[in-house]
Amino acid sequence: MFKSYIWSLPTRVFHWLFALLILLAFLTDDDDLLNYHAVIGYAVLILLAFRVVWGYLGPKYSKFKDFPLSMNNVKEFMFNIFNSEQKYIGHNSPASYVMITMFVVIFLVIITGALTFGIQEGKGIFSFLNDSFFRKMELFEDLHEFFANFLVILIVAHIIGVLTDKLVHGKHQTLNSIFTGYKQTLEENSIKLTIFHKLIAFIFLLAFIAFLVFNLMQPKNILIASKYEPIDYMVQNELFVNECGACHTLYPPHSLPRHSWVSMMNDLENHFGDDASLEEEENQNILNFLVQNSAETSTQEMSFKISKSIGNKDIIAITQTSFWKNEHKKIPKEVFEHNEVKSKANCKACHSDIEKGLIEDDKIKNINAFL
Ligand code: HEC
Ligand code: HEC
Repeated sequence: MFKSYIWSLPTRVFHWLFALLILLAFLTDDDDLLNYHAVIGYAVLILLAFRVVWGYLGPKYSKFKDFPLSMNNVKEFMFNIFNSEQKYIGHNSPASYVMITMFVVIFLVIITGALTFGIQEGKGIFSFLNDSFFRKMELFEDLHEFFANFLVILIVAHIIGVLTDKLVHGKHQTLNSIFTGYKQTLEENSIKLTIFHKLIAFIFLLAFIAFLVFNLMQPKNILIASKYEPIDYMVQNELFVNECGACHTLYPPHSLPRHSWVSMMNDLENHFGDDASLEEEENQNILNFLVQNSAETSTQEMSFKISKSIGNKDIIAITQTSFWKNEHKKIPKEVFEHNEVKSKANCKACHSDIEKGLIEDDKIKNINAFL
């Protein structure tokens, strides 16, 4: 047996950064961490771009053309699967299939993620698509989740593959090789990086670091910028602010559909146990304002999903919708009983910009503050 250098430093650094960032992407899959999630997605895209370039111009064994993908290779591998002497120096056949599929699926995860971010949240480089496609926001989110789940299956397959290999072909040291770069092979097969290889790796490393530094220094950059502007309701309708913000959070008009506002404003005497009734003229003024700016006039996720959740039902509370319940189901009951919250309807305790008509992900209060 020979000790051959198979995986160059750039290949190994790529592997571990890729694994780390994908793990981080799964860990930040929460509304309040969505901006980080998006930036991580773009960072993975840079790594993926490196890997594709490396797959064409990189050293032997990292090149896609050295992946043993042919049917003969697959058959050969299967017939000799229990033979501890493996002739594959780089990836074996099943591993090659898993790698290629993984690269394609990760690309699809990132693209559908960026589209969902633009269409559903109105954020990032695809936020311009929100106006035309917001009615399809759930489709894009579903696609993103589908590919992310597919990716989990591939990661599991990869790990099972590595462990099986360790068990059956352990003497080749494949698992160690992703740390050290060296495998035990039947012949001497070491690679050596050319100056051109090193240049490619260096440029991508620089781009990757520059990207991270840029995001740290400019956290509000175009990749996560929101298309929605804060609304000053005091300028738009002072009466609405004074009357409807007196007892509780000023719920934005686009947080409920037209028919909910109509039925609420028709019965202000019995308003959730309070009498909030108004002069006829004031009532009409506020109702007009609410109807002109109701959920139907907005492309925001909140508006679309609350409306959809209410449908034709006679619901006049946001907190009664299945959408609201679902979004907040992970929050323990004690949080809503906390002194600074007191009620589910006290949105502004956790969404500091709701009275400006926004529910920005990065403004959601960390609920651990209430535990
Ligand atoms: C006299 C006090 C008072 C005034 C004035 C008032 N409300 Fe309310 N409102 C309440 C109370 C109390 C609740 C129930 C809050 C809770 O569940 O914690 C409520 C609940 C609501 C809810 C449901 C919140 C949810 O999703 O659970 C909406 C929407 C609402 N009010 C809109 C309005 C509008 C619009 C106006 C102005 C026309 C208004 N309110 C004026 C007392 C008031
Ligand atoms: C105790 C704190 C708390 C209160 C009160 C609260 N929320 Fe939330 N809300 C959260 C948290 C935390 C999340 C994020 C959940 C997650 O990460 O999955 C959230 C998520 C949301 C989302 C989804 C955001 C997105 O981008 O997908 C909407 C919309 C929302 N809340 C609206 C409201 C409204 C309207 C009210 C008041 C009627 C309200 N919330 C009251 C804590 C709160």
